Amino acid sequence: MVKSHWVGEVQSGMYDDQEVELKGWIYRTRGSNKIRFIVLRDSTGTIQCVAKRDTVGDEIFEGLKGALIETSVILNGHVNVDERAPGGHEIVVSSATIVGSVNPENPFPITQSAMENADGGETEFLLDNRHLYLRTGRMTTMLKLRSSAFGAIHSYFRDSDFIEYQAPCFVAGAVEGGSTLFEVPYFGRKDVYLTQSWQLYAEAAMPALEKLYTIAPSFRAEKSRTRRHLTEFWHAEMEMAWAGNSDIMEHGEGLVRHIAQTFLDERTPELESLGRDLDLIARYADNPYPRMRYDEAVETLQGMSVDIEWGQDLDYSKEKILTQDFDVPHFLTHYPKVAKPFYHRVDPDDEKYVLCHDLLAPEGYGEIIGGGERTWSEEEILRRIDEEGTPRDAYEFYIDVRRFGGVPHGGFGLGVDRVISWLSGAEHIREVIPFPRDSRRVTP
Ligand code: 4AD
Ligand code: MG
Repeated sequence: MVKSHWVGEVQSGMYDDQEVELKGWIYRTRGSNKIRFIVLRDSTGTIQCVAKRDTVGDEIFEGLKGALIETSVILNGHVNVDERAPGGHEIVVSSATIVGSVNPENPFPITQSAMENADGGETEFLLDNRHLYLRTGRMTTMLKLRSSAFGAIHSYFRDSDFIEYQAPCFVAGAVEGGSTLFEVPYFGRKDVYLTQSWQLYAEAAMPALEKLYTIAPSFRAEKSRTRRHLTEFWHAEMEMAWAGNSDIMEHGEGLVRHIAQTFLDERTPELESLGRDLDLIARYADNPYPRMRYDEAVETLQGMSVDIEWGQDLDYSKEKILTQDFDVPHFLTHYPKVAKPFYHRVDPDDEKYVLCHDLLAPEGYGEIIGGGERTWSEEEILRRIDEEGTPRDAYEFYIDVRRFGGVPHGGFGLGVDRVISWLSGAEHIREVIPFPRDSRRVTP
């Protein structure tokens, strides 16, 4: 049952002039009553296979002739090196078995052009058929990039001696403000939500583990549908004791550069298939990321005649303009206190600001990381919670972290889907996640 030969291996030249058994799906098919040209797809690529009636016999030939796109098959044959064939190889079929057929009355609904290149899953029809769209070349590529990004995040943190740690998804308080909280029915209670971030529970474990990280889903009731917002997204977060804003930024930069380098090491053909400029990715992997204060960014934007007032958080429209000409990601630090949640530590040098950072990706992508130093004394956190007018009850456990040996600490959250979207050059964040969730869609 287990496969012994893979299309990608054949195309790499591993079985030239040898017999192979390929298992996969029919990607394309054409031909006459005597000869069929079948492009076979598996998870590693596509290859042209030629079946002649004279060689395979009438029964097999008729089976192949009637087989529609996405029929699953086992093809046995000889590997010919052929310059003219896509990928440089062609299979001369000697025998074939149809495994799972497709009913002609209900053919595969996704068109050839959408299969091969696609509009990035943008149409409602393709979103409705997302479960089938996953098989397209473009989506398969995105899923492989995802796998490399997740692997890179784990290896970065583990190689830097961080401990992987899990927080609950059902929570009783906001981290990132009440407007994007998802309320969940919970045995008649009205104060239970899906978590927006792992952070508060990570801070509770900070005195136990000191350096910790996670990759987990976070939930935000984002009503606006933008190219960078999902209601359920994958969040890579870290927390670190004995660290200030600058130490945390060093890890943010290290992590993003490591993801870019991993893409180059593991996924060059995939990036090329998306038309991505590899020099850009190498630039993101090789160069340091400059740091800029919020005030400087606001002045820059005002100089570009953008309508922005000091004190506003930068929304997407502004980050887009700001990052259009960045050559590498830039950190923006020292946002006004009024623009950020209570947990950010006030700058002791100037109380108007907090010791925080956002990392903004170039090419108009904008924020991919949000983080900073935490308010770590009991007195200060109580003042900040009261200033925001938030009831303390849900945060008692969080305040306790400060009551029993508080230490300077900080952390960040990286939007994994956003990073993949940026590095792959996707138009929309939906393109890089298998089943995107937004305010209108929870199916399929
Ligand atoms: O900036 P945010 O809201 O920061 C936090 O949640 C902190 N508690 C993280 C921490 O310090 N541990 O979110 C962090 C990142 C953003 O920079 C963005 O990349 C991503 O999470 N993100 C989203 N990605 C997709 N869809 C959404 N709706 C997102 N909201 C945030
Ligand atoms: Mg943010």
